Amino acid sequence: MDLHDTFGRPISNLRISVNSGCNLRCVYCHREGETKPENPLSLEDIKAILDIANVLGIRSIKFTGGEPLLRNDIVDIIKAVPAGIESSMTTNGTLLGSIASDLRAAGLSRVNISLDSLNPDTYRAITGTGLLSDVLEGIEAARNAGLTPIKINMVLLKGINEGEIDDFIHLVSGDRQLILQIIELMDLGGCPLHADLAELEEKIAMHSRKVITRRMHHRKKYCYEGAEIEFVRPWHNSDFCNHCTRMRVTSDGKLKPCLLRDDNLVDIRGKRGEELLKLFQTAAKKREPYNK
Ligand code: 5AD
Ligand code: SF4
Repeated sequence: MDLHDTFGRPISNLRISVNSGCNLRCVYCHREGETKPENPLSLEDIKAILDIANVLGIRSIKFTGGEPLLRNDIVDIIKAVPAGIESSMTTNGTLLGSIASDLRAAGLSRVNISLDSLNPDTYRAITGTGLLSDVLEGIEAARNAGLTPIKINMVLLKGINEGEIDDFIHLVSGDRQLILQIIELMDLGGCPLHADLAELEEKIAMHSRKVITRRMHHRKKYCYEGAEIEFVRPWHNSDFCNHCTRMRVTSDGKLKPCLLRDDNLVDIRGKRGEELLKLFQTAAKKREPYNK
């Protein structure tokens, strides 16, 4: 059984926020579109969601937060992912060092690690913590555990980390396990930290040896000075919605049909079996491109 919306878009991947809390306080954090901290879903709720996702033909699941590794049952959550579904996680990496191999053994295939600066002072200014060395250890642990390819998520922030692009390129250059994802700040209110990625992408594109276009979001992957680089600029891509195959589950148990809307959530906490399946179908019907 496959899940489609009314625009014929298949829903093949799901992002599940397992925790709204985080041990960092990034200045720009949108917390996956969540506004208030809530009781996270129980392990049993998450297991029920994973089983229905499997029935509905979901092919990949990304666990997000807040910070997913703050949950002490995170390994059990990964273990509950059905065999046919690929699972990955977005983490700030600070707690990854000691748990990477357990996550891999539980079936997690890879991680995205949020890291906006390689300079300890700048890292502290952005995150409010001095945990940069823990993140670097986390990256090594993820590599050793085989949670690869590891995507390094760098949000470009005007006047803060713009000068570090070369350092990040150097970090991933020649390393086939690391991919640099440069992300444009999502600022719905005209944030002064917002930096346009257009110029940078143009420059990288011009000097790249090869460019691979991925179907999802029409995103391009560049090979530049031995580094694999992707740009995430969904707000500039009028096709973004048309190619979106993703739904979200908020940490307080609501299906979120579209990233940028909060007015059409579907509550699934405590729901099981057939009822839960129907709610997935209801949520899929509520998906509407927001740029139309
Ligand atoms: N704009 C762009 N990316 C963001 N992230 C968090 N808040 C924002 C925002 N306002 C990113 C983090 C992380 C991922 C979960 O989302 O850097 O990589
Ligand atoms: Fe937000 Fe991620 Fe930073 Fe935590 S690490 S504050 S979730 S951007």
